Amino acid sequence: MARLSEHGIRLSSMSPSFLNSNSTSHTWPFSAVAELIDNASDPGVSAKQIWIDVVDEGDQRCLTFTDNGSGMTPNKLHKMLSFGFTEKGSGKSSQQAIGVYGNGFKSGSMRLGRDALIFTKNGGCQSVGMLSQTYLHNIKAQAVMVPIVPFNQQTNILLLVVTEDSTASLAAILKHSIISSEEQIHAHFDSIHSKKGTKILIWNIRRAKDGKTEIDFETDPTDFRLPEIQTEEIKKGLSNSGSLRHHQNIPDMYYSLRAYLSILYLKPRTQVILRGKKIQARLVSKKLSYIEHDVYKPQFSVSYCDSTRYV
Ligand SMILES: Nc1ncnc2c1ncn2[C@@H]1O[C@H](COP(=O)(O)OP(=O)(O)OP(=O)(O)O)[C@@H](O)[C@H]1O
Ligand SMILES: [Mg+2]
Repeated sequence: MARLSEHGIRLSSMSPSFLNSNSTSHTWPFSAVAELIDNASDPGVSAKQIWIDVVDEGDQRCLTFTDNGSGMTPNKLHKMLSFGFTEKGSGKSSQQAIGVYGNGFKSGSMRLGRDALIFTKNGGCQSVGMLSQTYLHNIKAQAVMVPIVPFNQQTNILLLVVTEDSTASLAAILKHSIISSEEQIHAHFDSIHSKKGTKILIWNIRRAKDGKTEIDFETDPTDFRLPEIQTEEIKKGLSNSGSLRHHQNIPDMYYSLRAYLSILYLKPRTQVILRGKKIQARLVSKKLSYIEHDVYKPQFSVSYCDSTRYV
């Protein structure tokens, strides 16, 4: 029986397979990485730095994104792991938020890998949450479930009062993630060196058809690169659309994350450190001969035409 709302009407639910469908909006892994950096630099979070790395956790290769922003309460973490919730539009911050849809974390993280753990501390409370396709598949879940476990940040004691599902959530994380003890959870909290901040750990990194991870971590130990086979695909696409002439090489931002991140923001607010080395921002707007300002403002209003159709 579907869960009922306070109106006595059944709630919609979301199939676990939607996590993968939703991630296909990112046809290129670097735009998925950008979602996670956007979140760290958005007003309200305002991280000064974000560290991006690849690490081995047991026998699993993982991506990590660690920021020293505001961190989250367990309730905020629940919204982060849900769909369509964003508070950014309502803020009075003078800075423009990049996030609008309440979807970027889900689409971005699930594009990079099948599973993610989020460790976050906000000064008083430290919480771990899990968004995992492997877990949902293993337990044959009919709808997306997101285990969340809050601990007191000073005493490391599990907070049972904040969420009544803490014990079940902890058991799910220890059984189905790459973390198998509470000590390991606390080691991850401790690896966020600031009092507040968030660390995202992604494993079961997406692989290409040849079985290799779609991001090449070996060729340059200070970069994430796309292998030649993928670069050729991008080149074909650019040539077909007329964006690249026959004899031209594709710009390095298409296959080097370091090059892409150096031009990603017109006004960078957060310093990105990729594999221990800072990204040097290149301010594209300063190098252009002719500048035209065009502010992207998505419009959500619809005009109501007749009684049956929106236009
Ligand atoms: N690194 C982070 N630190 C603190 N809060 C975060 C972090 N990442 C995400 N959040 C919170 O989770 C919410 C959901 O993030 P998500 O990226 O899914 O949506 P969004 O940024 O609001 O909108 P968009 O879909 O346009 O990216 C954010 O609004 C923010 O409150
Ligand atoms: Mg976002």
